[in-house]
Amino acid sequence: MSLTQASPATSPIGRDTPRLDGPLKVTGKAQYTSDFHFPGMLYAVPVEATIANGRIRQLDTSAAEQMPGVRAIFHRENIGKMLRSVLEQGMEGICEERRPPFADDEIQYYGQYVALAVADTFEAAKAAADAVRVAYDKDKPNVETELEADDDAEVVSTTFGQHERLQSQRGDADAAFASAPVKIDQTYVTPAETHNPIELHATTAIWEGSTLTLYDSSQGVVNFRSVLAQMFDLSKENVRVITKFVGSGFGGKLFPWTHCALAAAAARQLAKPVKLVLSRKMMFQTVGHRPRTQQRVRLGATTDGKLVSLQHDYIYHRSMRDAHHEDCGETTPFQYSVPNLRVTFGRAKRNVGAAADMRGPGAVPGLYAIESAINELADELKIDPVRLRVINEPKIDEGLGVPFSSRHLVECFELGAVKFGWSRRTPQVGSMKRDGLILGWGMAGCSWIAGRFAAEASVELRDDGTARVACATQDIGTGTYTNLAQLASHRTGIPLDKIEVALGDTSLPKGPLSGGSLATPSIVPAVLKAADNAIASLLAIATTARGSLFEKRNSAELVFDEGRVFLKADDREGGVPFTDLLQRANLRLVTGNGSSEAMFDDPKPKFSTHSFGCHFVEVTWQPEIARLRVSRVVTVIDAGRILNPLAGRNQIEGAVVMGIGMALFEHTSYDPQNGAPINSNLADYVMTVNADAPPIEVHFLDYPDKEINEIGARGIGEIGLAGIAAAITAAVHHATGVRVRELPVKIEDLLMW
Ligand code: MOS
Repeated sequence: MSLTQASPATSPIGRDTPRLDGPLKVTGKAQYTSDFHFPGMLYAVPVEATIANGRIRQLDTSAAEQMPGVRAIFHRENIGKMLRSVLEQGMEGICEERRPPFADDEIQYYGQYVALAVADTFEAAKAAADAVRVAYDKDKPNVETELEADDDAEVVSTTFGQHERLQSQRGDADAAFASAPVKIDQTYVTPAETHNPIELHATTAIWEGSTLTLYDSSQGVVNFRSVLAQMFDLSKENVRVITKFVGSGFGGKLFPWTHCALAAAAARQLAKPVKLVLSRKMMFQTVGHRPRTQQRVRLGATTDGKLVSLQHDYIYHRSMRDAHHEDCGETTPFQYSVPNLRVTFGRAKRNVGAAADMRGPGAVPGLYAIESAINELADELKIDPVRLRVINEPKIDEGLGVPFSSRHLVECFELGAVKFGWSRRTPQVGSMKRDGLILGWGMAGCSWIAGRFAAEASVELRDDGTARVACATQDIGTGTYTNLAQLASHRTGIPLDKIEVALGDTSLPKGPLSGGSLATPSIVPAVLKAADNAIASLLAIATTARGSLFEKRNSAELVFDEGRVFLKADDREGGVPFTDLLQRANLRLVTGNGSSEAMFDDPKPKFSTHSFGCHFVEVTWQPEIARLRVSRVVTVIDAGRILNPLAGRNQIEGAVVMGIGMALFEHTSYDPQNGAPINSNLADYVMTVNADAPPIEVHFLDYPDKEINEIGARGIGEIGLAGIAAAITAAVHHATGVRVRELPVKIEDLLMW
């Protein structure tokens, strides 16, 4: 029950709201992890293995130890004990690379840490790290790009728990495919990609007795605490993790990595604060990547475009020891109506670092394959790709057999088509031209999970008219500071500039990971309940404070609105500012706590909860000079109620920009000789830059999804990247006649005629 009335006139929900932390960021006052300094702090630089498979034969640290300013060179013999961690309940204990650093002499990927130099300055530590001599017994690394599934069991253990390799099945997909009049059978490949946030991963570790404090660039401080507590045999209350600002993560910072434990271990051995900031090169080696995928898609359809069979068999690579699960089949069972379906996966071990979630993990490569196959089927059938999708729009989630909480995908297609001008498309390859350029038009649909992690929050109402909202979640650049303030303001009527937001600190009420596009939907109920409880506390005080206008009233007769307390019967006449009541009661503040449950624990959910959307893309093509550009994108997203459309559009635009990179530029290549990611820098790892980014038009449908929370907000961080690569490759085909089924599209692919 709400003790307040929603006040649409002043609520910031649904309004373009500039980031509250914007001024701090543009003035340089925002402290990112590596900006924190402590007295006596030392600098650590890891030594990276220069082989990808083999063993350390000899480690010679003698020269490095003699260098000026060097405090220690750590390795297996002197780093001290570090334990393994294990998955806990409630999104804790998650870690993509479980082996504690330096646990043995085996090297299984290039860049694996073999030693750690610690010195008074970063420069001294770097010089010492470079002076460590390592001799290896080398074996040939396996970084083969052609993927064949390893001989795994039918149920495999992954980072996220157990998964059946037969992921989803209904009807008889083989028989229906065999007898289908129209078939598509193609394999789509997505390369390894590297997250590459601007901010480098960084950890500073400080011990005070048996209490460990870590400043880290983390997307999830609560999980981080649980992993480090396990590794260092500490109780959780003796570990504190702080992340005030994150220069983005894209999933690479969701879970702690080996360097985090190394900083903590070094700080323990030296009894000094130790800071460890990765190099850009290390960012390609030891902190995850989106794994390579190879996905066979078989579609069977009738001649009028009804799908009768869908088979999706995908393989992804993984590291030798770890088991990140890249769930490419996540959306396959429900995206289309099809009576016969089978989704399976396999894994192939390679000498690479542990893979990790990267923006839209699983679904993004998965939808590239499925949406590409649907586009190929449309061409085969000579049916417009929008119409083909509408023909196969499901009424319910046919995988789970339950209705969707809120699915407006057809409306996304319709709006997108109108905004883009899709009806002017002529389907023949190369048939559209403008200003001497060949145009290619393509489109694709998308979806992404929606739901909630467990979350807790607190809201304080204070005697100076300000409020404070606190939650141990993070703002990874997406606007969470602002969302928390908006929610507190929505419920209390206190203006945004009077709301202080505290996040990114495990000493606050447990908050959700900034991942899965789930932080926003998770915090909504927790913050609203916390505000309600703070208000309830205030109303109770109003009836007891000496000399209060409401003394001896029952708090049920009172209502709080826009920062004032009224008698319900008075219909908002008169009323007392809450600050007066607090001052009269000699209270600095009242606090309310709120929590909300995770939505993923229900084995028999009543609804299928997802966001949906679509992209319409135009490319220009100049065959004379093989110049391909994405020239225009229209994206429509159905992600429930949008809390902050300004930040929301920005999320989708950023994802589309990243999607252009996925389609045309990004790939991490491993050197077959030594297994190194060879383009491990921002010059050789090509990404979309401003010159590649076209005008992007973003539309939100804004249907509240009340199954997710009372405001109806789902998340928006990832969905904008789903589907876009398939829309671009369809546009490339429309312009050039070339079907590229292995990303990224290369100039060489288009020089075939
Ligand atoms: Mo996202 S890959 O869950 O940060």
